[in-house]
Amino acid sequence: MSNIAVFYGSTTGATQGVAEKITGILGADLFDVSSAGDDAISGHDVLLLGSSTWGLGELQDDWNDFLPRLEKVELSGKKVAFFGTGDQEGFGDTFVEALGIIHDAIEGKGVTVIGKWPSDGYSGTGSALKDGFFVGLPIDESNQSDMTDDRIAAWTEQLKWEIA
Ligand SMILES: Cc1cc2nc3c(=O)[nH]c(=O)nc-3n(C[C@H](O)[C@H](O)[C@H](O)COP(=O)(O)O)c2cc1C
Repeated sequence: MSNIAVFYGSTTGATQGVAEKITGILGADLFDVSSAGDDAISGHDVLLLGSSTWGLGELQDDWNDFLPRLEKVELSGKKVAFFGTGDQEGFGDTFVEALGIIHDAIEGKGVTVIGKWPSDGYSGTGSALKDGFFVGLPIDESNQSDMTDDRIAAWTEQLKWEIA
């Protein structure tokens, strides 16, 4: 399988926990975006990009520095997927909006987006939801934590097919 890097930005640890589970299942390399170097981006064929959402639909803090750096690295030919945590009852109109922001920033850079995810079972909406699919995997630890492990298992299984 291609070499996979998981990048996460996480303020209270929720997205970090999801990133660690995904990393363990896929045998990937794990990077916190607050300390990841550009070589971590360029050195992998598959990038799984994770962020929580703060404010009203804003990137997790560490992503404010990392996203401009990510945009400057040559991404052409890479497969990318998005994941993140959010709270769809507290923030129903900006649910996991950070995924939409990151997706929109890099989708035109020659990447292949994998890991799109059906919206069944979610009530939240926002720019991460396009044509009935989320651009990546939303995890809601505030309201649906009982579904987290099954969602991660199914998503990583889907990724294995899309990466192969
Ligand atoms: C002040 C505040 C603003 C938030 N804004 C949003 C939001 O706009 N959309 C969303 O889906 N979740 C929002 N959340 C929920 C967080 O994204 C959620 O708790 C997340 O799991 C935190 O992940 P982290 O610990 O990895 O940073 C917000 C939470 C707080 C406390």
